[in-house]
Amino acid sequence: MIGGRLLITGAGGQLGHALAEEFAAEGAVALTRADWDVSLPPPAGLDPDLVLHAAAWTDVDGAEDDPQGAAAVNVGGTANVAALGAPLVAYSSDYVFDGRKREPYVESDGPHPASAYGRTKLHGEAAAGDQAWIVRSSWLFGPTGHNFVRTMLRLGAERDEVAVVDDQRGSPTFVGHLAAATREVLELPYGIWHVAADGDCTWADFAEAIFEQAGLETRVRRISSDELARPAARPAYAVLRSERAGAPVLPHWREGLRACLAALGATGETT
Ligand SMILES: NC(=O)c1ccc[n+]([C@@H]2O[C@H](COP(=O)([O-])OP(=O)(O)OC[C@H]3O[C@@H](n4cnc5c(N)ncnc54)[C@H](OP(=O)(O)O)[C@@H]3O)[C@@H](O)[C@H]2O)c1
Repeated sequence: MIGGRLLITGAGGQLGHALAEEFAAEGAVALTRADWDVSLPPPAGLDPDLVLHAAAWTDVDGAEDDPQGAAAVNVGGTANVAALGAPLVAYSSDYVFDGRKREPYVESDGPHPASAYGRTKLHGEAAAGDQAWIVRSSWLFGPTGHNFVRTMLRLGAERDEVAVVDDQRGSPTFVGHLAAATREVLELPYGIWHVAADGDCTWADFAEAIFEQAGLETRVRRISSDELARPAARPAYAVLRSERAGAPVLPHWREGLRACLAALGATGETT
């Protein structure tokens, strides 16, 4: 599939960064927001043969205050990418579901977003057009950017105890594993693909695993989402699995965590 000019959007973000590394050998052109604000028409002369579209408004709470701003990026931006005329991978999210199910969401489950962010991601899927792989993933983390692992490492270094939500369940997915799986997706038919780490846990379980693997003594106090009172609703159950033949199978989230901590030089292992 890869043989022509490959473009990556959102290259300053955590997934975009991982994609730029994964596809460096193919000579991928990795554009940050400074290179192309996707809510605006593209700069002249891009002419890609394939786009990995990782640029997005990812401020979930901020989208409640400014749904039009979020839509300009997640819907309008995706439409601008699709208008380039090349096949694209559009990354989407577990937030297209309301999280009321208690068994994994598969591709044929009807979406029903419960937040402004989730609505923009769902409309963004439609804006990607017919020549698109819609790759839905969840709870992304990696060695760069804003994510739960980096936040916990910072808090764990400062505090004896951290309060973490224990009533949301998902599959924390290492961006390096998602970037590698993208290569497999390109061999599959267009359409929706659920691509998330194996295994599932709550945020509190994940925090405990981070502290344990990083060799930190920090305790986790398990709290409810209500105690945190954030503006946007989060899906209580966000586990994604694929029901489609040939879907990539990702490593377990604990393996992703090990890879991420190793990249950060933050493992507690002694040699
Ligand atoms: N994070 C998750 O847990 C998660 C879960 C499931 C799916 N996803 C999806 O996966 C994709 C990648 O997410 P991520 O975690 O890598 O997000 P991220 O780290 O927030 O990266 C998103 C990137 O997009 C850029 N961006 C924002 N607005 C833009 C615009 N108008 N034009 C061009 N670039 C713009 C951001 O730049 P600035 O930093 O300058 O704003 C940032 O570099 C997104 O589609 C997201 O919805 C994420």
